[in-house]
Formats: sequence, structure tokens, C-alpha cells
Amino acid sequence: MELFSEERSADVVAASFAATTDPRLRDVLTSLVRHLHAFVKDVELTEGEWAAAIDFLTRTGQMCDGVRQEFILLSDVLGVSMLVETINHRTGGTSTESTVLGPFHVTASPVRALGDDISLDHKGTPCLVSGQVTGAGGRPLPGAVLDVWQAGEDGFYDVQQPGVQPPGNLRGLFTADDQGRYRFRSVVPRHYPIPSDGPVGELLAATGRHANRPAHLHFIVSAPGHQSVTTHVFVAGSPYLDSDAVFGVKDSLIRAVPEVDDPELAAGIGLANPFQALTFDIALREA
Ligand SMILES: [Fe+2]
Repeated sequence: MELFSEERSADVVAASFAATTDPRLRDVLTSLVRHLHAFVKDVELTEGEWAAAIDFLTRTGQMCDGVRQEFILLSDVLGVSMLVETINHRTGGTSTESTVLGPFHVTASPVRALGDDISLDHKGTPCLVSGQVTGAGGRPLPGAVLDVWQAGEDGFYDVQQPGVQPPGNLRGLFTADDQGRYRFRSVVPRHYPIPSDGPVGELLAATGRHANRPAHLHFIVSAPGHQSVTTHVFVAGSPYLDSDAVFGVKDSLIRAVPEVDDPELAAGIGLANPFQALTFDIALREA
């Protein structure tokens, strides 16, 4: 084996992976080492900086538990989550665009019936959320499954406030009707800060970045024979649409939430008239 040298460091380490039987693993590790060594050489990393980086990553791991995923947050604020999503779900403009999963899909959404209210504590501005799931050529997808979750009025997900919010608050697993349509009651989403009391918050503070995300509602939508999509719908006019801390905003995912004055519809869905309405149609690609 060639001995280590500064000039040939990446080649020497890459060669150590030559016997890797899984070709994809060999390619990924080789590229990782080449980029990592190039980075260390580019910034001429000091020993103190190296130790600080190890400490940062150690604390990032130690911050993680069943309901706190600091590594996803780190990936999010570095734009890696969005890049992976975007590379893996190029739509060609023919289906709903994806965006980040985020760190709060850590609990199963309760199964709910169409029309149910996912706001169990009724804090916030009531809102009807509805739309249609379609496939190729706009064909409805009966029985499509929609997993939805959002933060509450004060900017926290249920899992962040045990004992304050009821479990399953603002989450739901819905099955679309025979026309691929869905609807449920909720509250108008609000903007919120991502958790900033850990290493990722230190990174944001040290770089003068804010921790806020614009108002959004998360969706994972799936249907047999189709690629599922992990996405959000963003509320038009929300603060931080142009500076999302995790780079998740795409123009095609922004929707207005107008006030609707329709006493008959309001009575039918159990909302006081007038009410806010968020309409989000979702187009899936065939698998
Ligand atoms: Fe979120």
C-alpha cells in the first residue's frame, strides 16, 4: 500500500476501498473521501477546528432522541435535505414538487375520516383544507392516502409539547374518496422557528441566520402504482417565504388561504361562516 502523503492523501485512502464488493458503497465512499480531503486542504483545517467539529457532531448526536432529530435539522439548515429531495424527485413539471420531510414526522399520524378536525385543542383560526389527488393526465386517484401534520398556533408540533398539546394534535392519516378528493378541518398554519436550543441553533446564531420557517402544512401522499410525494403547502403572504431556514420553499407549493362566505358549505362541514379555506391539489407520477 502506498504510504500517506499530503499531496496524495485522497488517492491513498480511496485505494483502501478498492476491495469493497458493493460497487455503490465503493463509489460513495471514494467520492466522500475525495471531497472531504479537498475541503480540509482548501481551508487548511486547524487541529482546534477539527476538534470543534468533532465536538459539534458528537453533541448533535447526543441531542437526538425519540422526538428530537438534530441530525435532520443539521442536514436541513445546510440545504442537504432539500438537495437530496430535489435530486430524487425531479418532476419535469408534470407532478407536485417535493420538499423536505423535516424532523417532526416522528410519530404515526392517527387514522381519521374525511371531514374530521385535526385540531384537537381548537387553538387558531379554523380552516378547511381540501383538494384532489390525481395521476397521469389528471385522472383521479381513488383511495390515495394522505399523511398530514402541522405546527400549532404557537409554533410547536404536538411532540414538542407533551402535556400541553394532546398526542396526535394537528396530525391525520386520510384516505381520499372515489374521486381522489380529500378534505379535513384544521387551523391556518403559522410560521415557526425550528428548535434552536441545540448545536444547530448555535450554528445559526454564529452565522447571523434566523431559525424561522414560513407557515406550512406537511403532506406525504401515496397511491398504488405511483411515486409518493413528500411535500408542504405554504401559506401565501407568510413571513419568511423568502428566507426559509431550511430552504424548503418552492413557488409551485404556495397557496392563498382566502376567506370563504358560504353558509351552506360551512354548515355541512361544521365550521362557522365565513371560514378560511386552503385548497391544495396533488398530482402524482406513475411509478
Ligand atoms: Fe414543519
